[in-house]
Amino acid sequence: MTEKKNIKKLYLEKIQNLIKFNKAYFEKDNPIVTDEKFDELKKELFEIVKKNPFLKKIKNIEEIVGSSPSNKFKKVKHSKPMLSLSNAFNKEDILDFEKKIKNYLNINSNLELSAEPKIDGISASIRYIDGKMTYGLSRGDGTFGEDITENLSTIGEIPKKIPNTTKIIDVRGEVYISKKDFKNLKDKFANPRNAAGGSLRQKNSKETKKIPLKFFAYGIGDIEPNIFNDQTELLLTLKKWGFPINQYCKKVKSIQEIEKTHSELESIRSNLNYDVDGIVYKVNNLKLQNRLGTTSNSPRWAIAYKFSSVKAISKINEIVIQVGRTGAITPVAKIDPVTVGGVVVSNATLHNEDEISRKDIRVNDTIVIQRAGDVIPQVLSVDKTKRSLKSKKFIFPNKCLCGYETKKETSITTKKVDAVRRCIRGYECNFTAKERLKHLVSKDAFDIEGLGKKVVDNFLKLNLIKTPADIFNLDYKKIEKLDGWGDVSIRNLKNAINNSKNIVLDKFIFSIGIRHIGQENAKTLANFFKKSKKFSELFNSTKRKEILKNLDDLDGIGETQIKSVEDFFSNKKNSEIIQNLINSLTIKDYEKKIKSGKLSNKNIMFTGGFKKMSRSEAKTIAEENGAKILGTVTKKLDYLVIGNSKPTKKKIQIAKDLKINLLTEEKWYDLLDR
Ligand code: IVH
Repeated sequence: MTEKKNIKKLYLEKIQNLIKFNKAYFEKDNPIVTDEKFDELKKELFEIVKKNPFLKKIKNIEEIVGSSPSNKFKKVKHSKPMLSLSNAFNKEDILDFEKKIKNYLNINSNLELSAEPKIDGISASIRYIDGKMTYGLSRGDGTFGEDITENLSTIGEIPKKIPNTTKIIDVRGEVYISKKDFKNLKDKFANPRNAAGGSLRQKNSKETKKIPLKFFAYGIGDIEPNIFNDQTELLLTLKKWGFPINQYCKKVKSIQEIEKTHSELESIRSNLNYDVDGIVYKVNNLKLQNRLGTTSNSPRWAIAYKFSSVKAISKINEIVIQVGRTGAITPVAKIDPVTVGGVVVSNATLHNEDEISRKDIRVNDTIVIQRAGDVIPQVLSVDKTKRSLKSKKFIFPNKCLCGYETKKETSITTKKVDAVRRCIRGYECNFTAKERLKHLVSKDAFDIEGLGKKVVDNFLKLNLIKTPADIFNLDYKKIEKLDGWGDVSIRNLKNAINNSKNIVLDKFIFSIGIRHIGQENAKTLANFFKKSKKFSELFNSTKRKEILKNLDDLDGIGETQIKSVEDFFSNKKNSEIIQNLINSLTIKDYEKKIKSGKLSNKNIMFTGGFKKMSRSEAKTIAEENGAKILGTVTKKLDYLVIGNSKPTKKKIQIAKDLKINLLTEEKWYDLLDR
């Protein structure tokens, strides 16, 4: 055995022990070794990895010790979900963010934004009732947090009492460790963020107290009654009440100010005593925030503009092609492993064919790579002075890994030719099929715990699965014989797979991976079809044509999405695979939760553009007041609201014939008392 293999074997054995000790301590609350022995093993493992960085890729210890999911804390539902933020990496992304907001609100004026450093720590939500700290939760999965009240109480910077101005308030913020304090913890954790997470989730709050945790408040969850008008006022009040607020928070009004703020903070970033990985921009006015609302994962009113993080120099050994679930062909550079911002990197994305020719990237080139956030590092530039005379231009393959020709599509809306080549064979291409399977089992789709990407790879290699339906007809006898699978893990996998068989229509639509149909569009489609039987009519080409004609009216569904649905279902293999999958499942009807309000039991439809808001917002408001939005004019319709700008004449005529109430924009506001 080579030395490398020996080290790997020893490392994996020790990791197994660590997992065992960790489980006993965290999940069973029944330690089988002393704290000293546990810490010793952790330290030893970190030292082995320090000397042999290749091990990090095999198994990352931080994932085991940093934030072990555990049952030791009580799970409590957040009164308002703790969402994540969408990211921006450049000026264009920010302009796009602003444009979307202005379209949604139907405004032209400059937006006032609150700019706040994005602290790289662990978020927490602390509830105060009648001014008294009552409990504190970790973010958890965003819906349920862990009750870490005791540990949060050890943080001196978090006030235990605040003025009794509101009955209930959840103060949200970031728990972190200063860079200075982290110096003493370097042996145990890879970075301050992991150290904060590890400390905050200690079983014994006395252990938490030993590590100097700090806190910055950045917002609120639930509040009753509301006393704030804007984010700046909110931060200033929290400051008055004794919460630490970051000193660099400020108001900005224009893209110029945003860019300036960004570069100013980036330039002093390394001198700050805490890690900051970007700036969060939030619409300052809370009423506007409320109007904008959230998508499934993040608020529409905020964005994290990330710093162009750390760079490193390396060499390209090979350029390979990867196929994504949409058939997109992505070139990836296999590089000499380098450490970038504490993480060993051996792959870098080259984006697409145009990027390679624009930067003239070649095999054997010396390159500068950059890692921003959690995304795969990218090649920034090539050092052409280091290039050998024998070097040849990289010729981009025009075939997919499956051997078939790829295509560059032309966008229906912009008429531009896409920079990305795609394999358009769907499930017929084994490589696209593999990625579709991985998407299908992922968290936002079927969410099958125990069936991660690596397991899917392995099961495919062993021919245990080929298509999605195979997941639900697995031969567990064969799995029993595989390395790493025992009674418990098989039982858990079986349960997870069985539970996932009951899936709601929107999740199902998202899971099957139709291009341009993300979580939001999947919900919109599910709301249109309601039942899986109706959705299955898409398999019939005549019915499909009729259905697709009606989709145009749905928010977010345009020509691009309709063509994509058509392409997906007209492919015979796709249809066969999805029909087989449906036969293995119980797909539950989609039921949009109907709220109660002034428009309860009323069916409404909108046509044309409005003056005061976008149509999307008008629909959201109607739904929030209990109305149901219809897609076609039928007898069931109670009101057709007609906007000033380009209403559809045909809809108005049908509505008149059916004697349906017609409302102008103003009359509709009257109906809502707005
Ligand atoms: S606002 C809806 N403001 O970033 C989410 N988040 O990716 C509202 N964070 O989980 C979050 N500094 O832990 C906000 N000034 C700041 C922040 C901040 C750090 C973290 C937070 C959140 C994550 C979002």
